[in-house]
Amino acid sequence: MLFLQSQASRGIVGEKIEVHFIQTDGTVETVEAETGESVMQAAVFNDIEGVEAECGGSCMCATCHVYFEESASVLLPPAAEDETEMLEDAAAERRPTSRLSCQVKLTSEMNGIRISIPDRQY
Ligand code: FES
Repeated sequence: MLFLQSQASRGIVGEKIEVHFIQTDGTVETVEAETGESVMQAAVFNDIEGVEAECGGSCMCATCHVYFEESASVLLPPAAEDETEMLEDAAAERRPTSRLSCQVKLTSEMNGIRISIPDRQY
């Protein structure tokens, strides 16, 4: 409990932020998410269409593929080798800003971040 309180006070978990998901038709869906959650969890918990996440966040399916804005790259941790390899199997076009949303945890600096959903996951 003390550990969690300590993390929360440092903004690591539990801080509410806004995340904007952009569908291929330009529709923007804004959700409230918590820092410490993955981007995939923020999408799935809020019924965002187009993030399938078949493997539940185990970096085994590439159906949680999303595109970040270029300006957000400084906020993202570098992709691990297994994520980079799985992105090769993504159904939609792979772009320089492609990531697996289950591998990116939300931080307070990401408040207001805009994330685009690809046109397909299969
Ligand atoms: Fe399967 Fe992200 S949920 S790779």
